[in-house]
Amino acid sequence: MEISIFDINDQDEVINLWRDCGLLRAQNDPYEDIKRKINHSPELFYVGRKNGKIIATVMAGYEGRRGWINLLAVEPSEQKSGYVREIMNHAEQKLGERGCIKVNLQIRQTNKQAICFYQSLGYAEDLVLSMGKRL
Ligand SMILES: CC(C)(COP(=O)(O)OP(=O)(O)OC[C@H]1O[C@@H](n2cnc3c(N)ncnc32)[C@H](O)[C@@H]1OP(=O)(O)O)[C@@H](O)C(=O)NCCC(=O)NCCS
Repeated sequence: MEISIFDINDQDEVINLWRDCGLLRAQNDPYEDIKRKINHSPELFYVGRKNGKIIATVMAGYEGRRGWINLLAVEPSEQKSGYVREIMNHAEQKLGERGCIKVNLQIRQTNKQAICFYQSLGYAEDLVLSMGKRL
């Protein structure tokens, strides 16, 4: 798999991948999500290609204190093949290069597979309650 920074020409393919992976939510417009990311820190948004086709994504972030992982996805037919470790290692390395010392992420409590998966990558549950507010 070849990993590169997201390019605007990748947009439709990426959104189709997120749809296939069940990551789209009615309250989030993926085009707007991508636009905001590109305006903020495009260098931390990665796609993984195999034979020219996008099969993985990760949208990492860093605000100066914590790193964040969002929109991690691997094309269903390419799952369980090690690609997710590759793209996560890449994102973690890039966050580390920026001085990030801890990476956080949020998982829907119903997404048991993702919880087990992140545990296998060394992530552990923090004893915190995650809160949010829509602006
Ligand atoms: C989450 C996702 C990116 C993981 O990619 P994947 O290719 O399916 O990952 P794998 O099944 O290869 O799992 C990676 C590692 O986690 C481990 N793992 C996965 N599920 C596990 C489980 N239920 N119990 C224990 N370990 C598990 C695997 O053993 C593997 O370790 P290994 O590389 O040493 O074999 C992918 O399933 C996906 O795109 N899901 C839909 C979108 C999503 O839920 N994204 C995360 C949002 S928080």
